[in-house]
Amino acid sequence: MKTAVVYFSWSGNTRFAAETIAKKTGADIFEIKAETPYNSNFNKCCDEAKPECYGKVLRPIKPIAGLDLTKYDVVFVGTPNWWGTMAPPVRTWVTQRKDALKGKTVCLFQTHGGGGMQRVGSEFAEVIGDAAKVLAPKAFSGSSIKSSVAALEAFVTERITAK
Ligand SMILES: Cc1cc2nc3c(=O)[nH]c(=O)nc-3n(C[C@H](O)[C@H](O)[C@H](O)COP(=O)(O)O)c2cc1C
Repeated sequence: MKTAVVYFSWSGNTRFAAETIAKKTGADIFEIKAETPYNSNFNKCCDEAKPECYGKVLRPIKPIAGLDLTKYDVVFVGTPNWWGTMAPPVRTWVTQRKDALKGKTVCLFQTHGGGGMQRVGSEFAEVIGDAAKVLAPKAFSGSSIKSSVAALEAFVTERITAK
């Protein structure tokens, strides 16, 4: 069983979660990047992202070098919680790759700033439709992500066993 971890991260929390999951499973890891990066200032980034998140906008992303989804059985997808939903670059990637994810097991994880899961899991499932087998998503607190290694590892073990 071959696993990939595909994630977007603006300030590093989801990247840390993705790296921990990849290490635990021996997965290949790939980063989704917006074609035009978001502003590096928190408030400006929030203002920029707000209409995109509420409008379910597909913000253009860069091609991901070396990612051939046909090689993988399981794909973990990571996003920060932005305005209660997935970050737009993740929405773009899932929308574009929906057909390539057909028949695979897909599992979402997200990091948040206190809001928990909000609409992230449900909107992710809505985008992916019935193309893939979608496992139960999980939310992790962004501010305590570095002390959540055991929880991240347990999440991966549980989901892969449940698969
Ligand atoms: C544009 C933006 C919108 C956010 N909206 C939410 C939100 O609606 N709910 C929440 O719990 N956290 C929200 N956050 C906080 C992030 O989800 C949290 O800090 C996350 O761990 C960041 O992940 P990252 O470091 O991988 O970018 C927001 C952060 C940003 C930058």
